[in-house]
Formats: sequence, structure tokens, C-alpha cells
Amino acid sequence: MKCIRIVGTGSYVPERVLTNRDLEKMIDTTDEWIVQRTGIRERRIADPDEDTSDLAKGAALKALEAAGMSAADIDLIIVATITPDMCCPSAANWLQAKLDAKNAVSFDITAACTGFIFGLSAAQQYLETGLYSNALVVGSEVMGRTVNWKDRASCILWGDAAGAVVLEKSTRGAEILSTHIHSDGLSGTNLLLPGGGSSTTPISQTSVEEGLHYLKLIGPNKTFKVAVKQFAKSCEEAASFNGYDISDIDLVIPHQANLRIIKAFAERLKISKEKVFVNIDRYGNSSAASIPLALDQAVRSERIGAGDKIILVGFGGGLTWGSCFVLWH
Ligand SMILES: CC(C)(COP(=O)(O)OP(=O)(O)OC[C@H]1O[C@@H](n2cnc3c(N)ncnc32)[C@H](O)[C@@H]1OP(=O)(O)O)[C@@H](O)C(=O)NCCC(=O)NCCS
Repeated sequence: MKCIRIVGTGSYVPERVLTNRDLEKMIDTTDEWIVQRTGIRERRIADPDEDTSDLAKGAALKALEAAGMSAADIDLIIVATITPDMCCPSAANWLQAKLDAKNAVSFDITAACTGFIFGLSAAQQYLETGLYSNALVVGSEVMGRTVNWKDRASCILWGDAAGAVVLEKSTRGAEILSTHIHSDGLSGTNLLLPGGGSSTTPISQTSVEEGLHYLKLIGPNKTFKVAVKQFAKSCEEAASFNGYDISDIDLVIPHQANLRIIKAFAERLKISKEKVFVNIDRYGNSSAASIPLALDQAVRSERIGAGDKIILVGFGGGLTWGSCFVLWH
């Protein structure tokens, strides 16, 4: 049946590895504390000459290759990111130029760690209406350049990466059965990058001196609890919308925020650990890149088989959360 399908996945991570032991030399922390509280052992950090659109290009080329397509075939490019190369033009426009995707229209989506799910949902609508016949959806982040490397409470969490999928309205590939997206702007100040916008803190010497250009976690404990609840509710929403029980799901691919968050929501839903994809130990939290990176690794390592029912699920700043239910081919 002709429907919206994933016809190729790809991912890219920078070569440089920053381990917890490296962090021990930079801040007052220990490998033991980071592993115990987050599950993270190491993360990737982009080279100074690598921008978000460069990481996105690496992932996009692999997704295009897997789809058997060239950049010129693409109608729509969406990049989910909170670390675009610059405010204007968008990271998606940089990517379009770098791929030489002459026939595509391109734009960014800002929904923090849920950005990739929001991107999938937006692309799904364009493909459903028939306006476009395919889309390249990318999550790409250079988090390392928004992080205050002196703030031990937050810098340990983040990593740089990119992941991509090619969507097509066709009869080949994995079927997207649903996407659900949600926002709670009233609680949006929990994860904040205050400086550099047009609000009360445009870039100035003072804003930089006060470190307002750094990503801040406000009350991380509170976010932790909300995250567990919304991850669980999103999985339930995706399963029940498609007429399934959580026990029918073959693999959940969650945003990699914190191993304890992942374990807590899986426990709440009685999902066994074999059915939850985890790579946070190697990549940390790469925000919008985390779900497509994990999806691509699950595909290429054959963790996903024909007929598998998969839920991609995210939660992040904004606040934002949501899911995508995929029936694998
Ligand atoms: C950030 C997070 C890992 C902290 O873990 P936690 O168990 O809540 O830890 P706490 O913040 O309660 O801190 C416990 C103690 O460790 C200390 N600590 C904080 N960071 C530390 C570090 N890197 N190394 C060592 N000690 C650290 C704190 O100062 C605190 O000490 P105190 O008890 O003497 O005050 C966790 O709350 C989390 O992942 N929250 C969600 C993060 C988020 O919002 N992600 C984005 C959305 S997806």
C-alpha cells in the first residue's frame, strides 16, 4: 500500500571522543558519579571546523545511499536542531547547499530533544497532502559549543552527532503509522539558552560575561520526573492509537537523556530492557540527533527485523514530547 515510509537511514558522529576520565581533568567530577547518575561513559565532540550542517551532511549522505537516491531527488529538507550553524540562514539551508539538493525546499525545526519527532511529523503532513513526494529529515547538533564546560551539573550530559532518514510516499520501506507531538510552553524555562535571542538578553559584553549564551538546566530533578512521566505516556499514546498494547511492541527507541530516565519509564510500562535501545553510554545526550542516531544504529546492527513494531519516543526542552510508531518492513 502507498503510504509514508522510511526508505533509508543514516548517521554521523565526529571522531573525537571525550571520556568521563577526560572530564575528571577539566571539572570536579568522577567517572563513577557520571556513570551512576546518567549512564554516560563518553561522548563525541565536533572538530572546530565541523558545523551542525556538516554533521547533518554526513548522516544525510548515508541515508540517501541507503534509500538509493541522490540529493537532487529530494523535495523537502527538514533539520531539527537547537544548535544551528547560525541564526540565519537555517542549518537546513546550509545542508541544502552542501548537498547541492537543487530541487528541495529547506527549513529548521526547533523542538530541542524532541525535534526529530517534530520533524518527522511535519514531513508526514507534507507527504500526506501530496505537496511533496519525499523528504530528508535530519536531527543534528553540536551541543559542545553551547555547553559551559565549567558547569559540572550539565556539561557532562551532552554530545555531538547527527542522524537522518529519507521518507517517501511509496510502497517500499518501513511504514510510519502515526506521529504524536506535544508542547508545554508554560514549563519551558526548565531548559534554557537565554542569551543571543531578541528578548531581554541580546548578545552583549554583559550577556557573554554572565554566561547567558550557555545552555542551562533549571531544576534538573523536576525535569527528570516530568520526563519519565511523558516518555511513558507518549509510548502508551502511540501503542493505543494503533490498536496495540505496550506488550506488543518489539523495540522502543527513546531519546537518550539519562539511563535512569530510560530505565524508570521502561519499568513503569513493564518493558523488558531487551526491548529498549540504549547507546547513551557512548554518545551522551545529543538532543535532536539522539533518536535518528539510535534508529540508524538499530537498523544497521539488525536489532530491527521485518514486521517489528517500533516506537520512537522523545522528550525535551520547550517542553516538548512525542512519538512515532513505525511498522518495519
Ligand atoms: C542532571 C542529572 C544527571 C543530575 O542527577 P541527580 O541525581 O538529579 O543529581 P543532583 O542534581 O541531585 O545532584 C546530586 C549532587 O551531585 C552533585 N553533582 C552535580 N553534578 C556533578 C558532577 N558532574 N560530578 C559530581 N557531582 C555532581 C551536586 O552538586 C549535588 O551535590 P549536593 O547533594 O552536595 O548538593 C539528572 O537530574 C538529569 O538527568 N536530569 C534531567 C536532565 C535534563 O533536563 N535533560 C534535558 C532534557 S531531555
